[in-house]
Amino acid sequence: MCGIFGYCNYLVERSRGEIIDTLVDGLQRLEYRGYDSTGIAIDGDEADSTFIYKQIGKVSALKEEITKQNPNRDVTFVSHCGIAHTRWATHGQPEQVNCHPQRSDPEDQFVVVHNGIITNFRELKTLLINKGYKFESDTDTECIAKLYLHLYNTNLQNGHDLDFHELTKLVLLELEGSYGLLCKSCHYPNEVIATRKGSPLLIGVKSEKKLKVDFVDVEFPEENAGQPEIPLKSNNKSFGLGPKKAREFEAGSQNANLLPIAANEFNLRHSQSRAFLSEDGSPTPVEFFVSSDAASVVKHTKKVLFLEDDDLAHIYDGELHIHRSRREVGASMTRSIQTLEMELAQIMKGPYDHFMQKEIYEQPESTFNTMRGRIDYENNKVILGGLKAWLPVIRRARRLIMIACGTSYHSCLATRAIFEELSDIPVSVELASDFLDRKCPVFRDDVCVFVSQSGETADTMLALNYCLERGALTVGIVNSVGSSISRVTHCGVHINAGPEIGVASTKAYTSQYIALVMFALSLSDDRVSKIDRRIEIIQGLKLIPGQIKQVLKLEPRIKKLCATELKDQKSLLLLGRGYQFAAALEGALKIKEISYMHSEGVLAGELKHGVLALVDENLPIIAFGTRDSLFPKVVSSIEQVTARKGHPIIICNENDEVWAQKSKSIDLQTLEVPQTVDCLQGLINIIPLQLMSYWLAVNKGIDVDFPRNLAKSVTVE
Ligand code: UD1
Ligand code: F6R
Repeated sequence: MCGIFGYCNYLVERSRGEIIDTLVDGLQRLEYRGYDSTGIAIDGDEADSTFIYKQIGKVSALKEEITKQNPNRDVTFVSHCGIAHTRWATHGQPEQVNCHPQRSDPEDQFVVVHNGIITNFRELKTLLINKGYKFESDTDTECIAKLYLHLYNTNLQNGHDLDFHELTKLVLLELEGSYGLLCKSCHYPNEVIATRKGSPLLIGVKSEKKLKVDFVDVEFPEENAGQPEIPLKSNNKSFGLGPKKAREFEAGSQNANLLPIAANEFNLRHSQSRAFLSEDGSPTPVEFFVSSDAASVVKHTKKVLFLEDDDLAHIYDGELHIHRSRREVGASMTRSIQTLEMELAQIMKGPYDHFMQKEIYEQPESTFNTMRGRIDYENNKVILGGLKAWLPVIRRARRLIMIACGTSYHSCLATRAIFEELSDIPVSVELASDFLDRKCPVFRDDVCVFVSQSGETADTMLALNYCLERGALTVGIVNSVGSSISRVTHCGVHINAGPEIGVASTKAYTSQYIALVMFALSLSDDRVSKIDRRIEIIQGLKLIPGQIKQVLKLEPRIKKLCATELKDQKSLLLLGRGYQFAAALEGALKIKEISYMHSEGVLAGELKHGVLALVDENLPIIAFGTRDSLFPKVVSSIEQVTARKGHPIIICNENDEVWAQKSKSIDLQTLEVPQTVDCLQGLINIIPLQLMSYWLAVNKGIDVDFPRNLAKSVTVE
C-alpha cells in the first residue's frame, strides 16, 4: 500500500542535495503505491542529528516543503544512509504528524519507515506510554521507533552495547503483523536496517567494481551458543511479548538458536559478505538502493537482491549482511543478486498524459508479450515453461479453485467456462476475502490458482497461505516477478505484461485473461476430442494483438460519447451474458474507480428479475451484443430495455446485420468491434470500456492515475 525507499552511499561522495534528490526521485517512482503523504530522513548538520522532512500529498508537495526548509545542499558525505516513504493511510489521517519517517523521540534517535500493519501496536503503545514515552502520531509505526529506543536504552543500562541488527532482532520479537521496514539511527551512523515480513523489499547494488560473487550469504546465530540472556526482562518481566512470541522465544531459548544476544553473534559482526569483497581486500565504493518496488531502483542499477520474509538486512561499511534469527531445515543459505530485465523506459509515461492511457494503448504489445515464446501457431501447441512439469498433477485435480480480488477476479470469471470446457474439471471462482471469511474447505487434491497483478495483495496472499496449509497444489498467475505470490506458489505463469503503474488495472487484465486461456489450453493438450476447439482458440489468440489495435481506433467516438450523452450522468448499467458477464463487471469496476460514477454490471438474464425497474429513457445502458451462441438471448434482453424506452449503446461485431436492422426502428447506437472466438471476445470487448472510464474521468478533471481512496497494491486486509 505504501512505498519505501532507502539510499546508502559508501566511499562515494555525495552532496546533501544529491542525496535528497535521489530519495525524492525514488519516492516519485513509488507514488502509485500510496500517495497521501511522504517523507524522508537524512543526516543533519550536527553529529548525531537527523533532518526529517514530511508533507501531506504527493511527492511534489514534499519537494516544496524541503525547499522551504532550505537545508544546506552543498555539504558532502563520503558515506551516508537516508530513508524515505510514501504513505497510504491505514492508521491515522493523512496529517503531517502521521507521515513517515516516524521517530523515537524529539532528538530523532531512531527513525523508521514502515509498510504494513503492526497488529499489536495498541498493546505496545500502552506499555511504552506506561514507561514514560510520549506519542505524537496515530500511527502503528511510531511504536516501532520508540521500541527501538527503549530496547537500546535498557540494553545499554544492562551493559549490552548491541549491534544494530541484534537490537533489531529484539524489536522484531515484539512485533506482530506485517512489515517492510527501514530504520536509521544516530547511534549507528551510516548504517541502515531493512527487514520484511509479508511486505516486499529488495536491495539494488551499484558498484564500479564487479561483484566477486552474485549472492550474499545468510548469517545465523551460532548453533552452540549458550543460554541467551533476555535483555527485555529488565524488571523481571518480559516486555510485552505476546503469548505466541513468548512461546517461540522460550522454544528458541531451549534450542539456544533463537534471537538475542550480543555475545552469541558477536563474531558475525566482523564476517564480511563475500559479494562485496574486493580483490585485494580493500574497501570498495558502493551504493545500495533499498525499495519496496523495483521501479524505483532500476534507474540506478539492475543488480538486485530480493529479501525473503524474516530476512534482516544490515547495511554498513559498504557491506550487505543478511541475518536470520534461526536456521530452518531446507532453507536457502544464500540470497542471489539477480539482474532485472526491466527498462526504465518501460515505466515512464512516454507520449501519453497518464499511465492508464499508456497502458491501455500498450495492450497490443503486452498481450503479444504474454504469448511470446509460449504458443507455436504452426503446430497449434502451447508451452508454459512454469507449468509444464506440473500438468499431470493438475489434470488429476478434483477441482480447480481460482482465487483473486477486483480486476484479477474478473479475469478468472471471464475464463472459467473455457477452463471447464477444455479440462472437464469443475472450476470455482472465489473472491479471496470471501473465501477466507467462509473458511472454505480445501483438500490435498484441489488445485488453487491465485491471480494477481502485483503478487502482493494481502487477501490473495492470505488465501494462498490458507491453501498451502491444507496441502493443496498452488499455482500463481502473476505479473510481478519476484513478488510474494510468485515465489510462494508451487508453480505458475508470469503474465509478462510489463510494469503496470496506473492504479486502474488495464493491460494486466487482458494479459491475465490470455495467460489463463493458455493454461486451460495446456490442460487439454492430451485430448483428441478437443483438437478442433483448441486450434480455433490458438489461431484466435494469434489475431488478438492486431484486433486490440483496431478497437483502440474507436477512441475519438468514445471520447465524444463521454463528452455528450454520458456527461454528467449519475449512473450507468452494463449488460452482458455468458462470456460477456465478466466484461460487464470489469467495465463497471473501471468506471466506478476512475470516474466515480455509479456503474453496475448486470447479467442480462437477470434483468427481468429486478433490475428492469431501473430502466427508463434517462438511464444510460451499454450492452454487449457480440456474436456467440447466446446471441439470440442477448438480443431479447436488449429488446426488453428498448421496450421501456431505454436507448442502449450496443458493443457489437462489425457489419452485424441484426443491429443494423434494429437501429433503423429502435433508438440505439453501436460501437463496432472485430469478431473473434467466443471465449476470447471479452478481450476485445473490454477495450471500449477501459477507454470510456478513462475519458469520463479525464473530462471531470480527475487524475486517473491517482483515483481517490485507492492504491495500486493493496497489502492490507
Ligand atoms: C522463464 C523465464 C524467462 C525466460 C524463459 C525461457 C523467469 C521469471 N522467466 O519463463 O525469463 O525467457 O523461462 O525459457 O525467469 N512461477 C511460480 N509462481 C508464479 C509464477 C511463476 O511459481 O506465480 C514459477 C514457474 O513455475 C517457473 C518460474 O516461476 O518455475 C518462471 O515462470 P515463467 O516466467 O512463467 O516461466 P517461463 O515462461 O518458462
Ligand atoms: C482495479 C484494480 C484492483 C485490483 C485488485 C487486485 O482496477 O486494480 O481491483 O485488481 O486490487 O490486485 P492484484 O491483481 O495486484 O492482486
